[in-house]
Amino acid sequence: MTNLKGKKILLGISGSIAAYKSAFLTRLLVKEGAEVQVLMTPSAKSFITPLTLATLSQKPAFSEVSSEEGWNNHVEMGLWADAMIIAPATATTLAKMSIGLADNIIVATYLSARCPVFFAPAMDLDMWAHPTTQENVRRLQNYGNHLIPVGEGELASGLAGPGRMAEPEEIVEYLRRFWQQEQSLAGRKVLITAGPTYEPIDPVRFIGNRSSGKMGVALAEAAARRGAAVILVLGPSRLSPQQPGIQTIRVETADQMHKVAVQHFPAADLAILAAAVADYRPQEASLQKIKKKSDTLNLELTKTPDIAASLGRSKKPGQLLVGFALETQNELTNAREKLEKKNFDCIVLNSLQDAGAGFNYDTNKVSILHKNNKIRNFELKSKAAVAEDILNEVEALLR
Ligand code: PMT
Repeated sequence: MTNLKGKKILLGISGSIAAYKSAFLTRLLVKEGAEVQVLMTPSAKSFITPLTLATLSQKPAFSEVSSEEGWNNHVEMGLWADAMIIAPATATTLAKMSIGLADNIIVATYLSARCPVFFAPAMDLDMWAHPTTQENVRRLQNYGNHLIPVGEGELASGLAGPGRMAEPEEIVEYLRRFWQQEQSLAGRKVLITAGPTYEPIDPVRFIGNRSSGKMGVALAEAAARRGAAVILVLGPSRLSPQQPGIQTIRVETADQMHKVAVQHFPAADLAILAAAVADYRPQEASLQKIKKKSDTLNLELTKTPDIAASLGRSKKPGQLLVGFALETQNELTNAREKLEKKNFDCIVLNSLQDAGAGFNYDTNKVSILHKNNKIRNFELKSKAAVAEDILNEVEALLR
């Protein structure tokens, strides 16, 4: 069982009666060997004293972005942490986090944090059930944050129902499970293609497409967080993955992407092909800028190499090849055809018919089709969350 020894944890406490549980949570985390930095909203101090939390965490508990002692650097803390937990997370704090209203140290640090963020809401049942709160929770999840579900039972108001903050032991267990799952790809090599390709027409123009690279980069980051050594072959994209464990190889054309993918596939346990590769390129790229002379201009196009098909042909037992299908019509039929033809082990279907799915969005809506005709349909969610779903599905096949 993963322990929390040496983990650096930011614990954000907002103003709720459940704040007393955060003292137990702090104690449990410290007992597990974690280093805990407590952050409080000003109203949390009405429920529990900074001195109690400072004593338990063996560090001053910060409740202001700046204080008489100086500037409590939320950016540095956000970069320092391995995880941030907001417990209790009140309706107000959830709302502020969801719109980025950084008027306290918790939200300012949350916006600077690069680590996984967990939130354990605590509020009365009607506040919890309110569509605004539910929308804020959904939005925070879509940004890739992790909800630690509320419990049901007696509430401070005297009413009974859902809204209780999870117990400290449950929160610790949640973190343990998270980090255990995190390392589920340790020792594995994962090859990912992402982004568009640009096929030159002349030194100025190219044939390209609308892919931003977001889906593939989210997959690379998720795989690296799970401990994989990732090679990301990235077409022209403004994105730069930050996660350690990712070797990014930038390419421009389908030919270049093909060459790099073929070179690295033999050592990979798993390849996921999220790139939108041009199927055709100009037969000849002009060395000089093409001048505007006649009313029409014919470009002769020739097929690019099919990277997926090449990898599918050379796939060895034990290797997994996962493709994407971007469709606009006859989605299932076309995806099944690609699954067979390119020798994928499974294929991730996204359709431009679905609002918020496909190119450039921060969200995607996918179905995963397997060889045995099994299909898993997923809701519209952030590309970070879609990446986790895909890896969960693929890991089951790797096992
Ligand atoms: O980058 P984003 O803006 O986040 O958008 C994400 C995405 C829409 C690009 C992504 O989710 C996606 O659907 N990627 C695949 C796009 C695509 O080209 O699909 P396709 O149905 O044309 O290709 C089928 C599969 O063959 C894909 O895995 C593709 O990577 C692969 N292929 C295609 C052509 C080719 N020459 N070589 C290939 O490897």
